[in-house]
Amino acid sequence: MRFDVTGLCGKSETCVNSCASTAPLYGVRLDGETLGMPEDYHLYSDLAPWFALITPPEHYEEEAAVYARLLTSGEIPVREVLELGSGGGHNASYLKHDLTMTLVDLSEDMLAVSRVRNPECEHVQGDMRDVRLGRDFDAVFVHDAISYMATEADLTRTIETAFAHCRPGGVAVFAPDHTREIFRPGTEHGGSDAADGRGARYLEWTWDPDPDDTWYETEFVVVTRDADGSVHVSHDTHRLGVFPRGTWLRLLDTAGFAGSVTETTFEDGIRVDILVGRRPL
Ligand SMILES: C[S@@+](CC[C@H](N)C(=O)[O-])C[C@H]1O[C@@H](n2cnc3c(N)ncnc32)[C@H](O)[C@@H]1O
Repeated sequence: MRFDVTGLCGKSETCVNSCASTAPLYGVRLDGETLGMPEDYHLYSDLAPWFALITPPEHYEEEAAVYARLLTSGEIPVREVLELGSGGGHNASYLKHDLTMTLVDLSEDMLAVSRVRNPECEHVQGDMRDVRLGRDFDAVFVHDAISYMATEADLTRTIETAFAHCRPGGVAVFAPDHTREIFRPGTEHGGSDAADGRGARYLEWTWDPDPDDTWYETEFVVVTRDADGSVHVSHDTHRLGVFPRGTWLRLLDTAGFAGSVTETTFEDGIRVDILVGRRPL
């Protein structure tokens, strides 16, 4: 195996996460103020072109059907949907079959990937905490990207963004990776290969340094292999939010939604709490 450590990261001077091109394979632990923001993460910048190999779009089909049912469960006919934190557009690639998707993400690199997958969708760069598109939608969707809201203040701002864009009678659907009630530390791994010889694998190690606060951390190690056989290892520490169902329901209620929790177990055994806010007519 060749280990290519030249010119792959390009973030060696500024990277706040550790990267195999400049550091050994363990993370630089940083305090809450200086931990990298999502736009600094390798996963959503230099690794963005690898996103579909790291987490193949086919894996999203089952859950996208669940979200489609919830998004269309409002009191009004649902056609126009805003997705905040749309990433590689994997859910959107299924939702767009029946819905007109407008996709917002913080990362230009992720938007570029999604534009290729979903050329018929409008893409907008923006922060889910304060973006205002100046128009309404029948429903608003925030998938796993909501997990980047690690404080109650940021979660509140995103729920307010959803309310500001949701028509009366419409719904907002939030799918965090965890609520406090279902949080379990653990490891996952996966990845896939392309026909041209490229491949990617990841290890995702989730742990909670302090169960009494509103965040946990996930160590992401991603190994990419290029078509020429060169291999690169990246590491990010992601800080992610975890809130009790009661906090979710209180914040949804305060924003003007009628909130509810839908507990769902997918075929692979992964259990999630999906939060639904219904905007009264
Ligand atoms: C795991 S990806 C989302 C993948 C997506 N669920 C899909 O179906 O392809 C998480 C995304 O959240 C975005 N993100 C994180 N914080 C954000 C914020 N404050 N505003 C908008 N997007 C954000 C990241 O840039 C990243 O693209």
